[in-house]
Amino acid sequence: MAYQSLLGHSTLLANLRPLECSAERMKALVYHGPGKKMLEDRPVPVLQAPTDAIVRMTHTTICGSDLHILKGDVPSCIPGRILGHEGVGVVERIGDAVTGFKVGDTVLISCITACGKCEYCRRAMYSHCTTGGWILGNEIDGTQAEFVRIPHADLSLYNAPAKVDLEALVMLSDILPTGFECGVLNGKVAPGSTVVIVGAGPVGLSALLTARFFSPAEIIVVDLDQNRLDVARSLGATQTINGTDGHAVETLMKLTGGRGADTAMDAVGVPASFLSCEEMVAAGGTIANIGVHGVKVDLHLERLWSRNITITTRLVDTSTLPMLLKTVRSGRLNPALLITHHFQLAEMMAAYDTFAHAADTKALKVIVTV
Ligand SMILES: NC(=O)c1ccc[n+]([C@@H]2O[C@H](COP(=O)([O-])OP(=O)(O)OC[C@H]3O[C@@H](n4cnc5c(N)ncnc54)[C@H](O)[C@@H]3O)[C@@H](O)[C@H]2O)c1
Ligand SMILES: [Zn+2]
Ligand SMILES: [Zn+2]
Repeated sequence: MAYQSLLGHSTLLANLRPLECSAERMKALVYHGPGKKMLEDRPVPVLQAPTDAIVRMTHTTICGSDLHILKGDVPSCIPGRILGHEGVGVVERIGDAVTGFKVGDTVLISCITACGKCEYCRRAMYSHCTTGGWILGNEIDGTQAEFVRIPHADLSLYNAPAKVDLEALVMLSDILPTGFECGVLNGKVAPGSTVVIVGAGPVGLSALLTARFFSPAEIIVVDLDQNRLDVARSLGATQTINGTDGHAVETLMKLTGGRGADTAMDAVGVPASFLSCEEMVAAGGTIANIGVHGVKVDLHLERLWSRNITITTRLVDTSTLPMLLKTVRSGRLNPALLITHHFQLAEMMAAYDTFAHAADTKALKVIVTV
């Protein structure tokens, strides 16, 4: 990439006028409205604030949320946006105010941008940062490109630990913290407890992998796709339930002696999955919603009012990334198990096709090498 030849001295580059760099072009996957996307040439991003970094992507991936955008479900993402909020890369340029990183550092990009200073960031609720949150590949250009601009770089990037497989690290940008924070932590998974995870996509499977940190007695996974249930079993599910017969709740009740699950996670995001969690949760238990819901769901308080249950919701904060990075470095967590397919950036359209047809292709996460 010709842009690289511009590099050398970060302070000098930080002072370059945007126009000088925007003449440089790169390949990027661009959203063009519902159902439309294209791999095309775009200007290389430039530093816009002293707290920014420009990262040269080495690996990225596709998320279910990118498919939501392509369905037109995310109005904040307007046509012309470069998609993607996950990935690993190398710091190419750095703003004068960034102190935690330098040019040449290999970094993990959090799907959540955080200023570290606003009221929400001070509570580690980075997802609601007043100048950040989920903006990458949504309100600002994202990571499915050769380069990306990362605002608030000090709080939004993480140094990649030495000797850790970079492909595995990509799983930490979004899905692993999502499963862990929204499902496992909010769901209060505890030693000896019974957990049911409804939905065995990349997020549900991430909840499964990280629920194991707390040694629950049972982790029961429900899905309609037998291949994903087989994967769940190989990742440590103690039981799986194929819900295609419409009797998932009854089966779960039988498996738990009529008690239900202490933690019931909705890792799907449709009314049927949340309603099944309402029926599967044990007295005193927690329904931890992870799924992004697009339509209303009935809450059966006429049944639940006396059951001492808790219902939680959360947008991932990625506040647990430092801890998750340590578990990956030590080998306690192996996120590479979620990777099923590999593509080059030039094959991005094929990568989307494979990911969008998971039932046929058996795709979980695809790694796109840039
Ligand atoms: N809260 C957050 O911050 C956050 C972050 C990332 C993703 N998400 C959401 O998490 C959810 C899961 O993400 P994913 O990438 O794993 O999605 P996915 O679509 O790959 O997986 C969903 C799984 O649910 C299964 N399923 C569908 N209907 C079902 C039903 N009625 N019962 C049981 N299983 C059913 C599907 O077969 C599929 O395997 C999505 O809604 C996604 O948008 C939330
Ligand atoms: Zn995502
Ligand atoms: Zn903030």
